[in-house]
Parts: sequence; structure tokens; C-alpha cells
Amino acid sequence: MGCTAQDITTALRAGAAVVAEHRDELIQLDREIGDADHGENMDRGFRAVIAKLDTAGPETPAATLKLAATVLISTVGGASGPLYGTAFLRAATAVGDDTELDGRAVAAALQAGMEGVVARGRAEVGDKTMIDALSPAVEAARSVAESGADGAKVLAAAAEAAHQGAQDTEGLVARKGRASYLGERSAGHVDPGARSTALLLTAFAEAAGARS
Ligand SMILES: Nc1ncnc2c1ncn2[C@@H]1O[C@H](COP(=O)(O)OP(=O)(O)OP(=O)(O)O)[C@@H](O)[C@H]1O
Ligand SMILES: [Mg+2]
Repeated sequence: MGCTAQDITTALRAGAAVVAEHRDELIQLDREIGDADHGENMDRGFRAVIAKLDTAGPETPAATLKLAATVLISTVGGASGPLYGTAFLRAATAVGDDTELDGRAVAAALQAGMEGVVARGRAEVGDKTMIDALSPAVEAARSVAESGADGAKVLAAAAEAAHQGAQDTEGLVARKGRASYLGERSAGHVDPGARSTALLLTAFAEAAGARS
């Protein structure tokens, strides 16, 4: 059984819950190398996504992802709003009119999302951004999907790789975004956007795993 619009809705609710739970941690990470608003931005955005899902539950995976994209772009603000929004928008385009996503479709959506973030923000691996969580996540997702795994297993592999990638941003010097203004002083801190990416993927994986 593949991932339906209902499953994506459940995953987005789990994402909103994890962002709310880690709001202060994300604020603290952003305080260290940014402007202390990442937790607030993400919490505001995901609350708005849930509010919208409560009033209008879309019927297809693409429409659900597109709803998330639109709401995130208009409510998160900062650098991360348009980046996450673009990721969800590209993921929506990648799933097309598929009504049940298998593991390969989930991996392809994740990859398209990452490509959207790169197209928009021009960050490369090692720049200390959300790309350092997304890139290993996409690689892990693709390799697990190739072996025929379902969406839940693909997301679990992606989440694990994203956590490692986020943790590894601690040693990096930021070359993109606000943290890059700190130069060498940005090293020694985990990137907030990489951390939120890892948290979201874990929430999505747990939601998908609980269902199957
Ligand atoms: N060019 C980029 N490409 C990918 N990710 C980026 C880029 N710039 C910033 N980020 C991510 O965004 C996160 C910061 O998001 P946040 O919500 O705090 O926005 P912000 O930087 O405070 O925005 P602004 O500076 O516009 O107020 C960083 O931790 C990083 O992961
Ligand atoms: Mg910030």
C-alpha cells in the first residue's frame, strides 16, 4: 500500500507536532549562529499548514504537498520559508497525478524537493545549510528505494541520514545564509535548518511507519 493524500496529511501533522516540540531548541540553535527566529518561523508555518488542512483536506498527494508549499511560503518568512516552500512545491510536481506513492516515488519526491532548494538557494554540500541534511537523506532514500522498499522504509533511511548530516554541520563553517556573516565563528554549532530538516523527516518516517 502506497502513501496516499491522507498519509501525507498525517505526516504533515506529525511534522507540525515535532516542530512545536523543538521550537525552543531551533530558536536556540539559530540564536548561536543567526537571528534566533528559525523555531518561531517554522512553528508559525506548520501551525498554518495544519489549520489549512483542517478546513480543506486535499484529495491527492500532489495537492496536499502543494497546499503545504503555498502556506509555508506565505507564513514562514525568512530564508527558510521560500526554501521549504520550494521543496514541497517541487515534490508536488514530482508526484504528478499519482494517487498512491511507492518507495521510489517518495525518494523521487524527496530528490525533487532538494533540487528545488538548491535551485533557489544555490547552496552546496558543506555550506552548512539544510542541504547538508537533505543531500545524504536523498542518497539514502534512493538506495533503499532501489531495493524495492516502501515509502515508510525510504523515509526512515532518509531521516537517519539527515540526522547524521545535521549533526555533521557542527564542524562546518557557514558559506550561505545569515550564519555565513560569522565566518569561522560559525563552526562549533549545528545549523538550525539542517536540524529542522532532520526533525521533519523523522516525523514523516514515524507517521508512515505507524501506518504500515
Ligand atoms: N542559500 C541557502 N540554501 C539552503 N539553505 C539555506 C540557505 N540560506 C539559509 N538556509 C537555511 O535557512 C536556515 C535559517 O532559516 P531562518 O528561518 O532562521 O531564516 P533566516 O536566515 O533568519 O532568514 P532572514 O535572514 O531572511 O531573516 C539556515 O539554518 C539554513 O539551513
Ligand atoms: Mg533565522
